[in-house]
Amino acid sequence: MTINEADTRKLFEEFVVPTYSRYNVVLARGQGSRVWDEAGKKYLDFGAGIAVSTLGHAHPRMIEALDRQARQLIHTSNLYYTRPQGELARKLVEIVGAEGKIFFSNSGAEANEAVIKLARKFGNECSAPLKNGSPRFEILTFDRSFHGRTMAGISATAQEKVKQGFTPLLAGFKHVPLNDLRAVEKAITAESVAILIEPIQGEGGIHSASNEFLLGLRRLCDHHGLLLMLDEIQCGLGRLGNWCGWKEIVGDPLLPDTISWAKGIGGGFPLGATWIRKKPVRYLTGGAVDLCDLLKPGTHGTTYGGTPLACATSLAVLETIEQEGLLQNARDQGDYAKRQLSTLPGIKEVRGMGLLLGIELGEEFAALGGEGQTPSHVIVVRLMQNGLLSVPAGPSVIRWLPPLNVSRGEIDEGLSILARTLDEMRPR
Ligand SMILES: Cc1ncc(COP(=O)(O)O)c(C=O)c1O
Repeated sequence: MTINEADTRKLFEEFVVPTYSRYNVVLARGQGSRVWDEAGKKYLDFGAGIAVSTLGHAHPRMIEALDRQARQLIHTSNLYYTRPQGELARKLVEIVGAEGKIFFSNSGAEANEAVIKLARKFGNECSAPLKNGSPRFEILTFDRSFHGRTMAGISATAQEKVKQGFTPLLAGFKHVPLNDLRAVEKAITAESVAILIEPIQGEGGIHSASNEFLLGLRRLCDHHGLLLMLDEIQCGLGRLGNWCGWKEIVGDPLLPDTISWAKGIGGGFPLGATWIRKKPVRYLTGGAVDLCDLLKPGTHGTTYGGTPLACATSLAVLETIEQEGLLQNARDQGDYAKRQLSTLPGIKEVRGMGLLLGIELGEEFAALGGEGQTPSHVIVVRLMQNGLLSVPAGPSVIRWLPPLNVSRGEIDEGLSILARTLDEMRPR
């Protein structure tokens, strides 16, 4: 660590709330799939800002869009119309391929907050009340899920560690096992109003919902009058080699009622978005409304969500994914990486699709760690020292989330660093 880096670290120790136990490196710049620290050491970035930097670092199309829009209009508030927000909304609706509307926010937690509020509104105004007259309000989510760090987000998240110390949580969430349709069926009660699911769980360790399970959830939702809400914040907008992550699992016939996006949508510029389906629902008081028009003026909002700068940048990112064939690249490089990873000694299983890959470490690494550190953390640190950035997902899983334009050569380089690192760390 250089004097400069030590100085940066000191700034954090003194002035930044310690919500993260950060790796001992100060990143200073990036280019493509690479980043450099303050001391000039180069890393291959297979974390991509936790599935955010879809075009890698400093992509010229993104820089050009940021520069052009910044000179024109950075922010106005949502009291006015702006062209980039309208155009991005149209693009996202086209990507889903079904009629709907978009609510813009700034992060994944906020994109989920919007669907949670929508479900409450739907429960209050459009679903038959309980016998005692109170509205339906309960949302089912899945074991190991992750839906963000706001109070609603941690209440929805089925991981004890994010909830500890924050009671009372927001009422109205029930967690059920993934891929167990019977358990879901049993868990649905008169209080239930929606099901929220990540088609592939990211933070929880890269666990995919099955084709049959997702189709079964749709059937259950239709049967019981519940909303099916997909959290595609980590797996959506190209990461699985498909604009719509769930379509990579089930194909076109499944249409959700809402989709939450963030992370990759802005390629690193903060933005969240929620698609809400155009689907007729009835008010209890009489009269019909489309689900996408249920959140009326005054019911929800944000000062920043969907600024011209964020939306123009996101449009450039999405157009670049299209023009550079990056959905196909994500699929090809992901398939290749998965095949090669499965042959490396010391790896128990490789899960995921496209460029959302979970590498489960073999039993021989189970004893690594101690003092609150997991085997995956220890390996991720050594990978970093060896020049590869990756992200833990659970105690024994390493996540690879390279930019969607990663090359075959870079995947090979990552594979070789991982093979060497596992060899170094293998207990002898
Ligand atoms: C599936 C999922 N939902 C929600 C979130 C929260 O997003 P943010 O950190 O942008 O609030 C995340 C972040 O990791 C996520 O992976």
